[in-house]
Amino acid sequence: MVDYVVRTATADEHDRFSGLFAAAMMFESSPTDLDREQFEPERALVAVDGDQFVGTAKAMTRDLSVPGAVVGAAHVTAVGVRATHRRRGILSGLMSRQLREAPEALAVLWASESGIYGRFGYASAAWGVSYEVDLHRVRPRPVSGSVGLLEEISAEEAPGLLAGVLGEFQTRRPGVSGRSELVWRGLLQDKPDHRGGKSARHILVHRDSAGVIDGYALWRGKMNWGPTGPANEVSVEELVALEPTAYHVLWQHLLTLDLAAKLEYGHAAVDEPLLQLVSNPTALNRRVGESLWVRLTDVPRALAQRRYATAVDVVIEVTDDLVEANNGRFRLTGDTEKASCERTESAPDLSASVTEFAAAYLGGRPLAEFAATGRVKEHTPGALAAATAAFGWSVAPVSLEIF
Ligand SMILES: CC(C)(COP(=O)(O)OP(=O)(O)OC[C@H]1O[C@@H](n2cnc3c(N)ncnc32)[C@H](O)[C@@H]1OP(=O)(O)O)[C@@H](O)C(=O)NCCC(=O)NCCS
Repeated sequence: MVDYVVRTATADEHDRFSGLFAAAMMFESSPTDLDREQFEPERALVAVDGDQFVGTAKAMTRDLSVPGAVVGAAHVTAVGVRATHRRRGILSGLMSRQLREAPEALAVLWASESGIYGRFGYASAAWGVSYEVDLHRVRPRPVSGSVGLLEEISAEEAPGLLAGVLGEFQTRRPGVSGRSELVWRGLLQDKPDHRGGKSARHILVHRDSAGVIDGYALWRGKMNWGPTGPANEVSVEELVALEPTAYHVLWQHLLTLDLAAKLEYGHAAVDEPLLQLVSNPTALNRRVGESLWVRLTDVPRALAQRRYATAVDVVIEVTDDLVEANNGRFRLTGDTEKASCERTESAPDLSASVTEFAAAYLGGRPLAEFAATGRVKEHTPGALAAATAAFGWSVAPVSLEIF
């Protein structure tokens, strides 16, 4: 073990803080005033060895859509330990303090490697689908009827114009992180040294026949030349649409750009409707991976904050090695309109650790999946099927951005 202390950062330590994280992730740190403005020093933990920063972890105050609600969720990011100080417990020290101090009932993150966070009670709770579309082969179905209008807008006007679309989308799909105006501006700042050889970001909006924006796409292009001619690449960073026509028109546009041979998109849901818009879905080259990880920091509060697909009344027994208050039995009742979760002494119908309930929290992974390996135990016949149906949701969760 190294001798280190964990403390909160101060506002003037932003650049040191982000510099250590950048070094841990092997990218060049180029902090801007906007990055500094977004920094929440009281939520940024730093491990210090002497006067040297050796570890960082921070949480951003943002909200997240969950089944039937939008709730506060600590958005954990900038987790890094100096390469000379790894595997000596620094991450464990940062994580356990962060989890105990989070005011929200849940924390979420994207993991750089899937082996890291399970030990801290996080579970992979939403699958993310990536596409690597062969544009020479894919056959998009034509859009029928009135198609509305496509228009490019600037990064300056985008936060004001797109916030409402994203906010509405949050009410339709779990797993989507909310964005304040500051977060929007930070996301759209488009640092040239972070483009990886791609073009500046295009911000494309779709307007319906009344001129109302009902969908948008953020994308970049990259010029390329192959042995048989132009082979440009299209990287779609985000596509959000509230209406079927907007969804179809935006995808149609991106799938038929001149000179392009390949399109990449990394944030589709497992039930992404794009499959239906092409007549040969294998040309999309789909791959399923991990996306959002969830940690329930306050089990009864978190379970009462979401809604349930079917009426549920179940006593669960939870174990948690890191957050003492999560241990015990809770009676969960709820449906699509309301929910409550209270401590009880009654005999449990189901038992599991905090991790399995986190996995099922967004409705993207069935509780029954974990019964097959003994991680969820059923004590009352029928309770598992009922709880699995209730924890599920009609649309799969998706996380639109790696934060
Ligand atoms: C990942 C990282 C933060 C771990 O920090 P660390 O201080 O070395 O971690 P700890 O010593 O506290 O390790 C705690 C446990 O996690 C395990 N662990 C740590 N990193 C791991 C990894 N990448 N994969 C699998 N297990 C890992 C350790 O082996 C240890 O296990 P044990 O308790 O059974 O002994 C650090 O290696 C790092 O900065 N990596 C590069 C940046 C990065 O990937 N950050 C995460 C961004 S999401």
